[in-house]
Amino acid sequence: MSDTEREPCLGLDIGTSRIVLARRVQGKPDFQAQLNAFVTIPFSKMTHKVLKREGVPHKVRIPEIIIYGNESPRFAELFHLETRRPMRHGVLNPGERENLDLLRQIVASLLGGEGKGGGKLCYSLPAPRLDGSEEIQYHDAALRQVLGESGLELRSIDEGLAVVYGELEASNYTGIGVSCGGGMCNVCLAYLSVPVISFSIPTGGDLVDGRAAQATGEVATRVRLIKERSFALNGRPSDQLHRALTVYYEDLIRTLLTAMRQAFSDTSRLPRLDRPVPLMLSGGSVLPEGFRERFEAALRKGEFPVPVSEVMQSADPLHSTAKGALMAALTDM
Ligand SMILES: Nc1ncnc2c1ncn2[C@@H]1O[C@H](COP(=O)(O)OP(=O)(O)O)[C@@H](O)[C@H]1O
Ligand SMILES: [Mg+2]
Repeated sequence: MSDTEREPCLGLDIGTSRIVLARRVQGKPDFQAQLNAFVTIPFSKMTHKVLKREGVPHKVRIPEIIIYGNESPRFAELFHLETRRPMRHGVLNPGERENLDLLRQIVASLLGGEGKGGGKLCYSLPAPRLDGSEEIQYHDAALRQVLGESGLELRSIDEGLAVVYGELEASNYTGIGVSCGGGMCNVCLAYLSVPVISFSIPTGGDLVDGRAAQATGEVATRVRLIKERSFALNGRPSDQLHRALTVYYEDLIRTLLTAMRQAFSDTSRLPRLDRPVPLMLSGGSVLPEGFRERFEAALRKGEFPVPVSEVMQSADPLHSTAKGALMAALTDM
């Protein structure tokens, strides 16, 4: 039977920055992504007509038109606007109903009509905050409501565990999965695919952008573009902005490792490991050249409660979570 004849099995990574859908095509994972972002421009009938003709995903909410997904940064740049986000630090903002609606639109544009004839979907959820500060219960309930409309059977997977599922098959799903995104970082220590310790911290690429923007008087959206195009964590920043990015990236690594040391320090919860375990870095924020090396150097510099054999970087960091969610849909549902 071919993949297309089977009921669809899908993995979905719902990140602050991007939503990634994974499906299996000819035995291999295939990915589609949309930015989890929007901009609003003034409504006119003409603008509406033009957007429809151009196939730009949008929603009319007079007196505005909301442009969402991958097209939003183009319009933000064009009209000197900041893109906005339905989610913040990994979870939906419960204050605004509009956010949920936008997420619904973005998810629907990725799913197409998938699910009408049944099928399975596994979606990623952030782990509880290390400091217990934020609830993911509302977030999960809202996602279930939106995703349930597709008709697909649902389950969720912890984001860090999804990285383990997606990237650590070689160690029999034993190791530490790390996902550094825009809004947050998720970490999971798993032993033979069983999650032992998972947590999240509300820090990521957005914070780096925001702090570097503040330090240099730039707009965060522009800082992000420059960071993604030309930033390397190689200790040789070429200008003031790259210098600021270096400072706040170093801080991100420090914060993440401090959190890991704290979370893993409760030895009564640690499994008795018979050998060191691998650590896998994923998520868009690990992409700057030199990140893996800086992270490993900082990890090796001090004590670390879990013996780590090697620090690896995913070959495809933007897709690791979705890939793991797909694996979970294919094997666990
Ligand atoms: N080439 C790149 N270099 C540096 N950072 C990048 C690059 N590409 C994406 N990012 C950053 O990665 C973050 C988004 O990562 P992603 O894993 O998609 O996040 P989320 O899980 O929050 O949706 C953003 O902060 C973005 O700026
Ligand atoms: Mg993510």
